[in-house]
Formats: sequence, C-alpha cells, structure tokens
Amino acid sequence: MFSTIGIIGSGPVAQAVARHALKAGRRVVLSNSRGPGSLTELVAQLGDGAHAGTVQEAAAAELVVLAMPFTKVPDVAAEVADWSGHLVIDATNQFAESDPYDGRADIGELTGSEWVAQQLPGAVLVKAFNAMYSKYLAADPVHDEGRQVVFYAGNDADAKQQFAELVESFGFAGVDVGALREGGALLQLDGHLNALHVLRQS
Ligand SMILES: NC(=O)c1ccc[n+]([C@@H]2O[C@H](COP(=O)([O-])OP(=O)(O)OC[C@H]3O[C@@H](n4cnc5c(N)ncnc54)[C@H](OP(=O)(O)O)[C@@H]3O)[C@@H](O)[C@H]2O)c1
Repeated sequence: MFSTIGIIGSGPVAQAVARHALKAGRRVVLSNSRGPGSLTELVAQLGDGAHAGTVQEAAAAELVVLAMPFTKVPDVAAEVADWSGHLVIDATNQFAESDPYDGRADIGELTGSEWVAQQLPGAVLVKAFNAMYSKYLAADPVHDEGRQVVFYAGNDADAKQQFAELVESFGFAGVDVGALREGGALLQLDGHLNALHVLRQS
C-alpha cells in the first residue's frame, strides 16, 4: 500500500517524512517551487528510492504530503487538475507569513485543515505531522519507553486507517483525535495537542 509517496515541499518536514518512508521501503517523489533541478543534491543524499519531480509529479501519487507553507496551498492546488482519489496528509501550520513563519492566517471559523481541504476538492485529507518540530519528527520514533505518538485528525475513517498503518510502518504510534473540526483544532497552532510529546508503551 502506498508504494510511492509524493511530497510537496523539500524543507525539514518533507525530508523527515521522506527518510521514514524510504526506511520503510517506500519510494518518494519530492517537489518544491523551484523545480526538480534544485533537488538533485537532496535526492542523492536521501539515496535509493528518492526522486525529484514537479509538483504535478509528486501530486500524482496516491498519497501526497503537503509540507509547504499554508498560504501557498492555493497555488499548489491550482497546479493540479484533479485531486480526486488522493489521500493528502496536511502537515502545514496556518502561519500568515512564511519567510519567516509568523502570525496567523485569518480563515474565519474554519480550522486550518478544513480550509486546506476546501482548497483541494476531491482529495481526502488527514491532518498530521504538523504538531511537532521537524527535528522530533525526523528522530527515531522507537524509544526504550515506548513509541512516539503521531496524532492525526480527519473526516474519513478509511483514510485515517490507511494513515495509521503508514505511520505504524515508520515506527510511530498513531492516535486518532477526531474530525478535522475538533481534532484539527487540537492539533493546529495554539491547540492543546500542538507540541505535546506522548509515548505509547506498546
Ligand atoms: N519546520 C518545522 O519544524 C515544522 C514542524 C511542523 C510543521 N511545519 C509546517 O510544515 C510546512 C513546511 O515547513 P518546513 O519548515 O518543513 O519547510 P520550509 O523550510 O518552510 O520550506 C517550504 C517548502 O515548501 C516549498 N514551497 C513553497 N511554495 C511552494 C509552491 N507554491 N509549490 C511547491 N512547493 C512550494 C518550498 O520550496 P522552495 O524552497 O523551492 O521555495 C520549500 O521546499 C509549513 O507549513 C510549516 O508550518 C513545520
């Protein structure tokens, strides 16, 4: 399942997810705003199974990770003709500015993940990987005391199950925190589960 993972973004979160995916035997296609030519060195460092692509090539995967600035999601959405049938993992945080990250984007009463889902009609969205710093996401999730928990939220039970199986294959323990409204609110910036580290004993 999910033999190829498309990643939009090539920064620290993208690289952390890519390394876990490669270790778990998946192929990854990384993309960014500057094009595949700018990713030659990174994919060489990542090794076998890592490929550079355009946003469209990364988005062609059944599972796509959004590891790019929240405010740029509409730009990426516009580059892809059809998001139907794609499971999208939303790792963004709703900063108003991305260079450097600062402020909060005003999206009314929506959670950040509900807003991202609205930008990608047809996609099924799971919110995850946004709630911890990339260095903790990159670290080995298996500790003597237990496995690092990755919280996730979504409105589609099948998609959440598939995401849970994926992160379990990376070594994490997945914990479902509900729908994009309630769970998304817990995970996003200023949410009660944001930046919270939990280990599962088994
Ligand atoms: N860093 C963390 O610790 C952390 C933790 C949790 C969540 N997050 C969230 O995860 C996301 C990524 O953060 P990051 O720190 O890993 O990355 P980052 O260093 O901010 O880099 C952003 C990446 O997104 C790409 N990008 C920007 N606009 C794009 C577009 N229109 N099309 C395609 N790619 C585009 C950039 O490509 P170019 O370089 O070519 O412009 C770059 O590779 C953000 O939403 C952030 O809030 C970050």
